[in-house]
Amino acid sequence: MTTNRTPLIAGNWKMNGAETESVALARAVAEGAPGGCELLVCPPAVLIPPVAAVLKGSGVAVGGQDCHFAEGGAHTGDIAAAMLADVGCSHVILGHSERRADHGESDELVRSKTEAAHAAGLVAIVCVGETLAERDGGETLARISSQIEGSLPAAATAENTVIAYEPVWAIGTGRTASPADVEEVHTHIRGDIERRFGAGVAGGIRILYGGSMKPSNAVELLAINGVDGGLIGGASLKAEEFLTIARSCS
Ligand code: PGA
Repeated sequence: MTTNRTPLIAGNWKMNGAETESVALARAVAEGAPGGCELLVCPPAVLIPPVAAVLKGSGVAVGGQDCHFAEGGAHTGDIAAAMLADVGCSHVILGHSERRADHGESDELVRSKTEAAHAAGLVAIVCVGETLAERDGGETLARISSQIEGSLPAAATAENTVIAYEPVWAIGTGRTASPADVEEVHTHIRGDIERRFGAGVAGGIRILYGGSMKPSNAVELLAINGVDGGLIGGASLKAEEFLTIARSCS
């Protein structure tokens, strides 16, 4: 990573944890946070307030894992972007492949959620990624382009949006894309961003890699041209693993 983009190392805790262990995890992350990158943790929604309380003033940011597209109202079980901001979030993950699969989220829905996040002052981490069938079928770049086109609103900027490239087949499987494949996709995404939003946005926007990033492969993955950090699931649940990844940025 030889750019002026500050790397972002984001932990996606998914549907894991209870209050005591989550607060301890957050505290350990804050205590061991290295310089040289931004750190973010995204706990399950009900754990955001205690985690945000322990991280207050630490420099480690807190994010949600999803939000609704509406400002509020009759949406049982959902959470508005402004509610996330109100309890201390600065970021929200949107369009994760698990939400696209479990909840049938379309690019159009992800775009409207991204607009809601921006309206609430949150940085949206918009996830894209191909399935194994799409990769094997030679459709990876076309799939990524259509997700980027459909999921990003016109008002996306390098400040309010981060992109996470997560090959679906690499998430939670222990498999990672090869460095050449990761570089190809990241370069392709930045090209799409440049064509639609201009060189300024393309040069500034951060594109994270996600999918089985762990201490043993983080140095290699984070050194790839165009990789500006990581979105980390399993390895973000252990402070030492997450911090080892964070230290791999420098
Ligand atoms: P993983 O998850 O690191 O466990 O593969 C990454 C993600 O889903 O964001």
